[in-house]
Amino acid sequence: MESTIDSRTVRALVERINFENSAAVRSKVHRVIPGGTHTYAKGDDQFPERSPGFIARGKGCHVWDIDGNEFIEYGMGLRAVTLGHAYAPVVEAAYRQMLLGNNFNRPALLELECAQMLQSLVPGAEMVKFAKDGSAVLTAGLKLARAYTGRTLVAICGESPFFSYNDWFIGQTPMDGGIPPVSKSMTITFSYNDIGSLERLFEQYPGQIAMVLMEPARVTEPQDGFLHKARETAHRHGAVFMLDETISGFRFHRGGAQSVYGITPDLSCFGKAMANGFSLSALTGRREIMELGGLQHEKERVFLLSTTHGAEYPALAAAIETMRIYRDEPVIEHLYRVGERLREGFKQAVSDAGMENHITIVGRPCNLLFGTRDHDDNPSQAFRTLFLQELIRWGVLAPSFIVSYSHDNSDIDNTVEAIARAARVYAKAIDARSTDGLLIGAPTKPVYRRYN
Ligand SMILES: Cc1ncc(COP(=O)(O)O)c(C=O)c1O
Repeated sequence: MESTIDSRTVRALVERINFENSAAVRSKVHRVIPGGTHTYAKGDDQFPERSPGFIARGKGCHVWDIDGNEFIEYGMGLRAVTLGHAYAPVVEAAYRQMLLGNNFNRPALLELECAQMLQSLVPGAEMVKFAKDGSAVLTAGLKLARAYTGRTLVAICGESPFFSYNDWFIGQTPMDGGIPPVSKSMTITFSYNDIGSLERLFEQYPGQIAMVLMEPARVTEPQDGFLHKARETAHRHGAVFMLDETISGFRFHRGGAQSVYGITPDLSCFGKAMANGFSLSALTGRREIMELGGLQHEKERVFLLSTTHGAEYPALAAAIETMRIYRDEPVIEHLYRVGERLREGFKQAVSDAGMENHITIVGRPCNLLFGTRDHDDNPSQAFRTLFLQELIRWGVLAPSFIVSYSHDNSDIDNTVEAIARAARVYAKAIDARSTDGLLIGAPTKPVYRRYN
């Protein structure tokens, strides 16, 4: 495939962007913070060397790094920022609450109001308990399921890359240092859209599985009533059925993916998008199970999510305002519309460069992910890194193509232009059967690995 750019020119252009301040801070941060940040997905090993190391500020879907470079950002705040950075109505709601106080010795009315707002959007949310992150509420859901069923095992869907930083999940990954074997043995795995694989777990571990856990959908839609069949299977065998809506909640639909697919789980959890980047998550579900953590029953008590910061009031105020916006404004419709425009533009740009078999895009328009394959059609970190590097060079910071309410048509069109340019460089590397000479620095690496 012919390309008009030679690798020296590409390299010179990439090197021209100034990342001096980022490089200087990078050289210090790893001595202070293990991993250099607080989420592995934000780490230096997830981005090209020529990339913004530290972000100074954001507005809408644009961010500025500490060298003053501006980028259109995707998947903002690990998908938490759905409306936009520094989104005024949400910031103001949080600020108004800060002036009234952050945390008292007794609950604030806001806790009830926020729970009721969530209930008004999510049909199966008979009770609601807040915490700060998705991991914590998933683990709390598992504890409830264990208490409710008197069983130990959790059956998780193997296609989901992440459920929780807690041992019951991380013990299933290659990065299982520090996790006792006994924890690992309590989690078992089935496959999405393969009801037989779930049935087999119940046959193999009769009377032992407390909970079946999955995301409603990731990049593949449920086939042949899979979600309903999985719930029916769980119930037939006496297990609790939980949906993880950390990603799909307030993105697939304002009532969560459970509203898209018409399914009511026993338990579900929300996080990320619920408060537009303020830290808040929620465990929701059937009263009969949830109230085991409450004060008004005669059964054995369950210590359910008792945290100092769980109901931090500015985050609750931010969540109420964010959910009000989801309810009253066409946020979800916008995500689908601009996402579709991006998907179409992506496909055209990639196919114009002859790269449609190498750079692919999957998922719902509101939740687009891309894949990168090398000359032999194998998934490739080096090619992914080259693609990221080239997008960054043209002002797009996109570990995914997950849009927000702040992405408008011109952001999408500028992004498509960057994709077109990046795809042409990618084509050059495919021709050369290597990213050598085009990629500066090391390829990114998978998060879950035993050694650095
Ligand atoms: C599907 C899913 N579940 C749970 C979590 C955990 O959420 P948190 O990072 O808020 O603990 C994540 C985080 O990325 C996720 O993607």
